[in-house]
This record gives sequence, C-alpha cells and structure tokens, in this order.
Amino acid sequence: MTKSLDNRTIFITGSGGVLGTTYVRNMLQAGARVVATDLLGARADALQESFGENLNFAFYDLDVADEDQVKEIFKRVAADGHLPNVVLNNAAITGEMLMGVGKSFPDFANTSLEDWEKTIRVNLTGAFLIARQMDIDIVGRYPAALVNVASMYALNGPHHEIYKDMPFKSFSAYSSTKAGIHGLTLWLAGYWAERGCTVNTIAPGAVFNGHSDEFQNRVSKLIMAGRMAEPQEIADVMLFLCSEGAGYMTGQMVNVDGGFSGW
Ligand SMILES: NC(=O)c1ccc[n+]([C@@H]2O[C@H](COP(=O)([O-])OP(=O)(O)OC[C@H]3O[C@@H](n4cnc5c(N)ncnc54)[C@H](O)[C@@H]3O)[C@@H](O)[C@H]2O)c1
Repeated sequence: MTKSLDNRTIFITGSGGVLGTTYVRNMLQAGARVVATDLLGARADALQESFGENLNFAFYDLDVADEDQVKEIFKRVAADGHLPNVVLNNAAITGEMLMGVGKSFPDFANTSLEDWEKTIRVNLTGAFLIARQMDIDIVGRYPAALVNVASMYALNGPHHEIYKDMPFKSFSAYSSTKAGIHGLTLWLAGYWAERGCTVNTIAPGAVFNGHSDEFQNRVSKLIMAGRMAEPQEIADVMLFLCSEGAGYMTGQMVNVDGGFSGW
C-alpha cells in the first residue's frame, strides 16, 4: 500500500507539462508539499493559477539547462523552508517543443547538431546538474530519493512505421537521453546508497494527449493493454515511487507502459 506522503517535500522539474501537472495535483491530494519548478511562461502561469492558493504548493522558475540557476535552486527553496526530500528529474524537451507546434519534423539525416545538443543539454545534462546539486545540498543530510524520468523509448526502440505521415515523430536524441538518464540512475544508486538516498527511474509509456484516432490505433496494437495511458495512471505509480513505501527500491527502472516493453 502507498504510505502517506505527508512527510514528503517533493521537488519537480518541468512541472507544468501534461504529466508534471498531474503529479502536482496527485501529490498535493496525498498530503505532500510540492515544490514545482519550470520555465517561466504559460505553463508556469497555469500551475500558479491551479495550485497557487494551496499552502503546500510553491513555484520557482528554473531552467534545468542553466548551470548557474541549478546551483542556486536548493538554496532558494531552503530559504523559504522548502528543502525537498524527494526530487523528480521530469523536465524534458519532447518532440513538439523542439520543433515548435505545427512545424514539420526532420528525418534522421536532416537532424541538426543544434537540435541534438539542445535535447542532450535539457534532458540529460539538466538531470545531471540537478543530481549534482542534490549531492551538494541534500544527500547525506537526511534520507532522500531521486526519481529520474525516462520513457518507453529508453531501452526499447520505436516502431518507426507508426509515425508515418504523423505531424510528430520519435527522435533519436530523445531516445538517447532517456537511455542515458537510466545510466545516471544506475551510477548514482550505488554511489548514494550509504548516504541514504535511493535513485530509481520511471519509464512512462504512450500517454494520451489528444492524439488522432489513427495514431491511437497504430500505437495501441503495440501495447498489451491495447490502449494509451491516462496521465493519472503514470501519476499513481510516481506517487508510490515518492513514498516511504518505495524505500527499499533503488537502481530500478519501473515501466508503466501497459505492457509495451513486455512483448
Ligand atoms: N507524455 C508522454 O507520453 C511521455 C512518455 C514517456 C515519457 N515522458 C516523459 O515524462 C516527462 C514529462 O512529460 P510530459 O508529457 O509532461 O511533457 P511536456 O512536454 O508536457 O512537459 C515537459 C515540461 O518540461 C519543461 N521544460 C522544457 N525544457 C525545460 C528546461 N530547460 N528547464 C526546465 N523545464 C523545462 C516544459 O516547460 C514542460 O513544462 C518528460 O521527461 C517526458 O520525456 C512522457
């Protein structure tokens, strides 16, 4: 059973996205204090609007790709009494964000070095910067947990044909960063074990977010459950990983993908 989260202060990067917002809502409902962070903009505004009046919610602007900002972040939250005992490396550049809404997606041969490096910088280097800062400011002071967010496309390749004629594609830099972030989990889990900090990876499957019927049909055939996930179904497992109930788990990847990776 998932234990109560009322002794948890959960720090989330990229909190304003589809999954991040669901995590925030779920965690507040479960009694946690939530320190939400994201780039400033419409998503951050929406978070503040939805949760700003909850006394267990605090928002901080944070670009995880900016080393100077990450160096200061736990000092900023500590000054307000919000030093976390659980940290989620959730921020990522996903396809549409890299290209811009409605822009066509380059094939592999036309993938620019700039787009590759930008994706690595946010998805992987950003996770490293946050983890390094945790090492400095949190790990060893009290029991803590880090959850890194990967994807069903971390350790499994995409079926490229399901993206044919779709406005979005899977992309190589994304998969590379998501495999890499699990490498970071494995490296850190042993490194931090004696200082009382667990490190795990969650690998969400395909989450429904207004996809066309055609795309839903194509991807659902690859999923044992026969359908895409609701954000809440990922958030429920995330809640467990953030709870004391997951205290004896470390160095693991938890696939929440309706069986996509099981076939
Ligand atoms: N939605 C899915 O189907 C799915 C599947 C597998 C894995 N994931 C992973 O789950 C996580 C959340 O996904 P989502 O669907 O909510 O994505 P999303 O695109 O809706 O949200 C990503 C968030 O990251 C933030 N972000 C981007 N660059 C940033 C930066 N430099 N600094 C700080 N924040 C930044 C964005 O502002 C946004 O709020 C991501 O790591 C994603 O790769 C999602």
